[in-house]
Amino acid sequence: MSTADVTEIRVGAVADFPVDEATKVDVGGCLVAVVRIGDDFYALDDTCSHADVSLSEGMVEADDLTLECWRHGAQFRLTDGEAVTLPATRPVPVYDIRVDGDDVVVTITQEGGS
Ligand code: FES
Repeated sequence: MSTADVTEIRVGAVADFPVDEATKVDVGGCLVAVVRIGDDFYALDDTCSHADVSLSEGMVEADDLTLECWRHGAQFRLTDGEAVTLPATRPVPVYDIRVDGDDVVVTITQEGGS
């Protein structure tokens, strides 16, 4: 039987997150890039799948709904973490994120073993 560890953390107030930018937050030791576009929020793992680089330091493309790694320019789709341009070929994990009143809440679910 498998178990899942669920970590749900308030990462800040809506107003803490600048529009069309990525902000790095720590969710129980897991670094997450929170991207705000208008009133919509997205949460991707902060580490590029190409190398150990922080994606939240990259550029948000609001029209394309992507986050571009600053190091070599790979773009990751905000909705599912898919790498849509090289040199990255693997996706980054995405996490549940929701607005609860004035709060922004990220939920990370990690499948455990037995
Ligand atoms: S480290 Fe992100 S594209 Fe190379």
